Amino acid sequence: MILFKSRSSKVFFIAAIAFCFAFQSSIAFSKSVSRKASIAAMVEELLAKMTLDEKIGQMTLFTSHWANTGPTMDPKNLEQIRTGKCGAVFNAISAEYIRQLQNTAISETRLKIPLIFGHDVIHGHRTIFPIPLAESCSWDLNAIEQAARVAAIEASAQGINWTFAPMVDIARDPRWGRVSEGAGEDTYLGCLIAKARVKGFQGEDLTKPDTILACAKHFAAYGAAQAGRDYHTVDVSERTLFETYLPPFKACVDAGARTFMTSFNEIAGVPSTANRDLLTNILRGLWNFQGFIVTDYTSINELIPHGIAADEREAGKLSALAGVDMDMQGAVFMNHLAELVNSGEVSVKYIDNAVRRILTAKAELGLFDDPFRYCDVKREKEKLMCPRHLNSALEMAKKSLVLLKNEKNALPLKKSVKKIAVIGPLADSTADLLGNWHAVGLASEVVSIVDAIRKAVPVGVDIHYAKGCDVNGNNREGFRKAVETARKCDAVILILGENETMSGEAASRADIDLPGIQNELAEAVSKAKKPTIAVLINGRPLVLTRLQKSVDAILEAWFPGTMGGKAIADCVFGSYNPAGKLTMTFPAHLGQIPIHYNMKNTGRPMSDNKYTSKYLDAPNEPLYPFGYGLSYTKFSYSNISLDSAEMKMGGSINISADIANTGNYDGEEVVQLYVRDISGSVTRPVKELKGFKKVLIEKGKSKKVSFELKSEDLAFYGIDMSFAPEPGKFQVFVGGNSRDTLSADFALLP
Ligand code: NOJ
Repeated sequence: MILFKSRSSKVFFIAAIAFCFAFQSSIAFSKSVSRKASIAAMVEELLAKMTLDEKIGQMTLFTSHWANTGPTMDPKNLEQIRTGKCGAVFNAISAEYIRQLQNTAISETRLKIPLIFGHDVIHGHRTIFPIPLAESCSWDLNAIEQAARVAAIEASAQGINWTFAPMVDIARDPRWGRVSEGAGEDTYLGCLIAKARVKGFQGEDLTKPDTILACAKHFAAYGAAQAGRDYHTVDVSERTLFETYLPPFKACVDAGARTFMTSFNEIAGVPSTANRDLLTNILRGLWNFQGFIVTDYTSINELIPHGIAADEREAGKLSALAGVDMDMQGAVFMNHLAELVNSGEVSVKYIDNAVRRILTAKAELGLFDDPFRYCDVKREKEKLMCPRHLNSALEMAKKSLVLLKNEKNALPLKKSVKKIAVIGPLADSTADLLGNWHAVGLASEVVSIVDAIRKAVPVGVDIHYAKGCDVNGNNREGFRKAVETARKCDAVILILGENETMSGEAASRADIDLPGIQNELAEAVSKAKKPTIAVLINGRPLVLTRLQKSVDAILEAWFPGTMGGKAIADCVFGSYNPAGKLTMTFPAHLGQIPIHYNMKNTGRPMSDNKYTSKYLDAPNEPLYPFGYGLSYTKFSYSNISLDSAEMKMGGSINISADIANTGNYDGEEVVQLYVRDISGSVTRPVKELKGFKKVLIEKGKSKKVSFELKSEDLAFYGIDMSFAPEPGKFQVFVGGNSRDTLSADFALLP
């Protein structure tokens, strides 16, 4: 009876809570519907009052600059703000300066339309997080979302309300410098990370003063630039475009991203900025994107050298008709759009639609309610580099570390080590730890790796530093001191890699080995025969075939951000056990590029037979595959099992495996699920990632990890380009990377 009573009151309690939630969410829903309606009405009212020039002003974005005296604006552009000819500004920094510019727009223009302020907030704003490629190696979607959240909190405290991120270009050619800005080579993981980043920037509610507009870029297929050369031609099949390059953009639309940026490249002869199929038919038509589209920097003007427009006037016409809403920095819309409308070549409906979308975004941010809501000097002081943000950056830097090699358990360093040599061109650098696109991050606020190591060691342990050589160049004068330093110590930590200008935009490299004479330095130092650990600071996969022969351990730290030094020190001394996994393949040889785990089998898969798909002078296998990363402990996989060997169309199966921690440390493992469709109406990759779980397993313990695989997860673009699963035989794989896996078979029934 008592039980009954308590159960019934519990039921009542739960029902009451459910009712409250339903009631509250229906209020929230109707509030958001009515807010949408009132924004739409306000926008129409405003649009009706606007002259054509004022409308085109809203479609024009100019940059601010940084002078010795602080932020500044070209006087010409300032005048354009005053006269309503510029509706958006980027790269303006500081709450105070943005307030000043906003005040100009509000108090001097006829219609007092607020400006929107954009910036490349890519991996942190002032507190710099690891580069996006590094963050992706955490496989930790919550942490990635939080990193974007922190960036938005800091940027919005400085007046910024629009970031040119996330960059969601799938990239499979590590020569391309911009692989550093994305989430790697895999589309499935890329979609999840794209969503997490959009959510992090935009938060739950855009009207909050600490949320900012996200911008999915670069639409589309910029990552497929021929030979990894930036801005180069892209020519991918429709199937590859839809299957590999477009899904992360669609994921951004689904996550509510309010803006998109066109890419610099052409696809099959049509540059994105003039590509109506891409911008209007796919993005707006097929995906129902409601936000606005900005060009990349002067990319309307670049339609001329691309060779599809004779002059700027024609370029402006092509872009407007393709569906571009805002011209970044090129002033083409400003100079030619009115005439194009007046001559009847561009219907005013294109202009009205673009302005509608831009004003709607400004209204969604709450700028019409309070244009200065992002300019709060007090918040700026409180939020930038606050302890909570530094701590998130530290955690993210640790999670991004990937242990590539650890012979003789060289890492973590043993307690018996009393003298440590810290050698290498990046050991004492601060600026390089920030990496490219470091927004307003300051090198002066970064602790170098050698200093972080000095701080981390107990009294009685000595650190001896030698630079050895420069990142690039061929001066060997420092080698002798480096070798002497190694000889007198018990262990060597080499800090090698690229400097921050070697990746990012316009930073393609034809040779992606360690630059300069760093391999020689490692070889010289290794002659001291001390446990030698290489820590890498870089923005792309490198060819490490030579380096891995001369060192005992390799810790890939990427450009790790403001707190990178401490993260590395924590890992080297064992207070953090690395768990990152590569999201881009590390080639064994430059000539293998492009190389990625989900390649096709070919009609002549590699074998001992000469006439099969392989090189005469290099292996087919990469040095470190996608999904790979070691831990201080060891994980062993066994007992892959399927709850059924048959999956019904519309149904699912459950796949599980046991993972045992057989080493001496507690550790996290990213357990990965891959699938191969053995035969389809078109060929399918040898493996495709379909799921993953990051689990903590205590030493000596084991865990069963299971995945649900649905038939819809097996869908692809078939011979007729319809997206659907096809019945037949499949293989499923579970493992700690894309190469070393357990496998089982199942069939998808018709
Ligand atoms: C050019 C880059 O391609 C793009 O990613 C960036 O957002 C803009 N410049 C603005 O800085």
